Amino acid sequence: MMTLTINIERLLHELDLLALITDCPPIQDRPLPGTTQAVTRIVFTPRDLEARAWLKELVLAAGFTVREDAVGNTFLRWEGTDAGLGAVGTGSHTDAIPYAGMYDGTVGVLGGLEAMRSLKEAGFVPKRAIETLMLTSEEPTRFGIGCIGSRLLGGVIDPEAADRMLDRLPETDASAPTGLTLADVRQAAGFHGSLAGVKLPIGHYHAWVELHIEQGPLLEREGIELGIVTNIAAPSSYRYTVEGFGGHAGALLMPDRRDALCAAAEMILSVERHARAANANSGGVDTVATIGMVGVYPGAVNSVPSRVTLILDLRDTDVARRDGVLSAFHADIAEIEQRRGVKVQEEIVNADAPAKSSEHIVETVETICKAEGVSYKKMVSRAYHDSSFIAVVAPTAMLFIPSRAGVSHKPDEYSTPESIAVGTRMLALALAKLANE
Ligand code: GLV
Ligand code: MN
Ligand code: MN
Ligand code: MN
Repeated sequence: MMTLTINIERLLHELDLLALITDCPPIQDRPLPGTTQAVTRIVFTPRDLEARAWLKELVLAAGFTVREDAVGNTFLRWEGTDAGLGAVGTGSHTDAIPYAGMYDGTVGVLGGLEAMRSLKEAGFVPKRAIETLMLTSEEPTRFGIGCIGSRLLGGVIDPEAADRMLDRLPETDASAPTGLTLADVRQAAGFHGSLAGVKLPIGHYHAWVELHIEQGPLLEREGIELGIVTNIAAPSSYRYTVEGFGGHAGALLMPDRRDALCAAAEMILSVERHARAANANSGGVDTVATIGMVGVYPGAVNSVPSRVTLILDLRDTDVARRDGVLSAFHADIAEIEQRRGVKVQEEIVNADAPAKSSEHIVETVETICKAEGVSYKKMVSRAYHDSSFIAVVAPTAMLFIPSRAGVSHKPDEYSTPESIAVGTRMLALALAKLANE
C-alpha cells in the first residue's frame, strides 16, 4: 500500500472558509469547541452559488477539471490513464438546512477533493478517472424532497416531474409555495438544459464511496474510528393538510370548534406512538418518525386554526415495517377525522427503497483499515444520503466518521480533526485501490 499523507490543515482551513458562506450571523460566544458558525446554505440561494464558485476555484487551482450538469451537480474530475474505463466516484453535498452545522456533507465534498489532491501530490497515477461530486440539494429544504441531484443521476425521479416541483423556501406556513418551480429556480441560478440528460449511464462509475459524518452517537460511544456503511434505511415523506373550522378565539364557542391544530396534535402523537411500538415489537431502533414542519393558518393568537399542514418524515431499514406504521397512522387519522369533524388529505412526497452497499467495496475498505491499523465497524446509515440514489446506477459504499455526541443538523455538530484526517485518508486509499482495478 502507498504511503499517503493528507494535508489536514488545508482541509480544515477550507471547511472553515466554507462555513463562513452562510446566511446565519456568526455565533459570538462559541459554546463548544468547534462551534464556529451556524450554517444555512439553501440550494440556489446566493450563498449556495457563492459556495459553488469558491469550490470551482479550488478545483481548478488543484489542476482538476469541472463539469456541471443541468441541475447543478458539479463533477470535479481527475483523468485516468485508461479513458475507456468507468470512473471511481466520491462526493456529497454542500447545501445545509437552516441553522445546521459545518460538517454535514462538506466533509465528503472537501474530503473528496483533498483525497484527490493528496493522491496527486503523492505521485499516484490512476488508471480510472477519479471524480468528486458536489451534489445539488441533498437537503429537502427548498423543494420538499432531498437528494434532487443524486435522484436525477440515478434516474429515480422523473426529470419532467422534477422540473415541476414547487419552490417552498422555508416560511412560517410549511405549505406556502413561492410560485416558482425547480425549472425556474435552477435556470435563474444559471443551470440550463434538460434534466433528462442528467441520468448517469450504468458503468459511468465502476465504484462510488461517500465520506460523511455519522450524525449519530455510535462510533464515538464505542471509540471506533471509522464506520463502513452496509445499508441505508429507506426514507419516506408525506405532506398532510388538515382542514377544520376556525374563527374568533373569543367568540367561537368550544362545542362549535373543529380546531385543525388540535387534530394535527393528535396526529403527531399518533405517529410517534406507532413508531415507538414498531421498535418495541422488533426489539430494535430502526423505525423513526418525525413531524418537523407544521404550518398553521391563519396563524394569529386570537384565531382558531382552520387549516394545518404537517410534513412527516418516516424511515426504516425494513420497508414492510415502515408501511405498517403508515397503515396504523392512517387508521388513527380516520378516527380523528370522524371524532373531530376535520378532513385530512395526504400527499406522498417520496417513498424510497433502502440501499445496500457493494460487498466488494466494503471488503476493500476493510482490508485497507486492517492494513493501516484503523478501527472500524460495519453499520447501518439511518440518515439518507446521496449514495442512496447513486446506488441505483453504481456499486456504492459509505464511510462514516464519529460525530460528537451524535449531534447533527445543529450548529454544535462537530467531528475532530483526527477523525476527519482518518476518514479522508481511508477514502483516498480506497479511491486509489478502486481506481487501479
Ligand atoms: C439527510 O440529511 C437526512 O435527512 O437523512
Ligand atoms: Mn443533512
Ligand atoms: Mn449530509
Ligand atoms: Mn443527509
